[in-house]
Amino acid sequence: MRILAIETSCDETAAAVVQDGTKIISNIVASSTKMHEKYGGIVPEVAAREQLRFVIPVIKEALAIFTKGAMSLQYSEQAIRQCVNDHIDSIAVTVGPGLIGSLLVGVETAKTIAYITGKPIIPVNHVLAHMYANFLDFDLKISPSFPAISLVASGGHTELYLMKSMKDLIWLGGTLDDAAGECFDKTARLLGFGHGGGLAIQNAAAKYSTKAKSKIHLPRPMLHDDTLNFSFSGLKTAVMREWKKNGNSNTVNEFAHEIQESISDVLVEKTLRAAKKYNAQSILLSGGVAANTCLRKKFKGVISFFTPSVELCTDNAAYIASYAYFRGAPAEWHNITAIPDLSVEDI
Ligand code: KG4
Ligand code: ZN
Repeated sequence: MRILAIETSCDETAAAVVQDGTKIISNIVASSTKMHEKYGGIVPEVAAREQLRFVIPVIKEALAIFTKGAMSLQYSEQAIRQCVNDHIDSIAVTVGPGLIGSLLVGVETAKTIAYITGKPIIPVNHVLAHMYANFLDFDLKISPSFPAISLVASGGHTELYLMKSMKDLIWLGGTLDDAAGECFDKTARLLGFGHGGGLAIQNAAAKYSTKAKSKIHLPRPMLHDDTLNFSFSGLKTAVMREWKKNGNSNTVNEFAHEIQESISDVLVEKTLRAAKKYNAQSILLSGGVAANTCLRKKFKGVISFFTPSVELCTDNAAYIASYAYFRGAPAEWHNITAIPDLSVEDI
């Protein structure tokens, strides 16, 4: 089964075609990061307006693979309809959680394509879908064994799930305040890295020599409590306090290193605790923060560990298609709507 997926929940505009939930045929992502750099963060109005500009060209480019090399931007709306009719079995679209204006762009576009082609449309939960990036372009012979513990760490979410099978998910815990990615983003801004987020922290941390004993010590929030919940807002406050006392161009890399250590220590420890509690056979890591090399390194070597390639960790539509294939269900197009606060717990 071939699925065309559309993803516009935050500031990316993405479309992908995936075969049988695993084989990526095309995967196109347009980002409006440059615009947000100008405004010092994501401005929902700006994001939605950019997505309106990008959504049709991005879908055309994702479908261009079927038009024997014809320039994607040149073919008409009628050709899109023909292409979907001939090559696509279902449409998948992110319906939430996310920014309302952004979600509406993807949802209404997907509904229109489903309406004019008569193809089934599958609504997708963005956060749950992140973990299905682990099933893209992977070797079936070394697939994860169940039960598995799955950690989704993104800009807006830090959630732990017990995965009993490809379909059977149970929410175990999540962040009580800021998400891990949000903490990376806010502390990056504090250290003067602008809109660079976790990647900027990672790059700065790599410049810090761990041979010298660090004088900066940050807390590991909720590391020792009994729940599988997280909290990162206290860490942000601690960084702010320490930075006021000891922050300067000589200590910035040391700060980045300690921030990265603190966040990754907590994520790894809590995930391993969940794995032990539920006798997990594998661990799955996903979401934008899963791109972090330090975090990936800390997980390696512990039971059977899976994480997508770095490009598939951050927002894209390929994992939306994968989720739709393995766990989605078609709905009537007129019943599909954007749900900004779609639950990631009650699933
Ligand atoms: O999943 P994602 O692309 O979008 C959301 O659904 O939120 O995640 C974006 C988050 C941002 O907070 C960003 O700073 C973080 O992922 N991120 C990273 C890295 N690359 C992206 N965090 C740490 N290290 C990275 N290399
Ligand atoms: Zn995401």
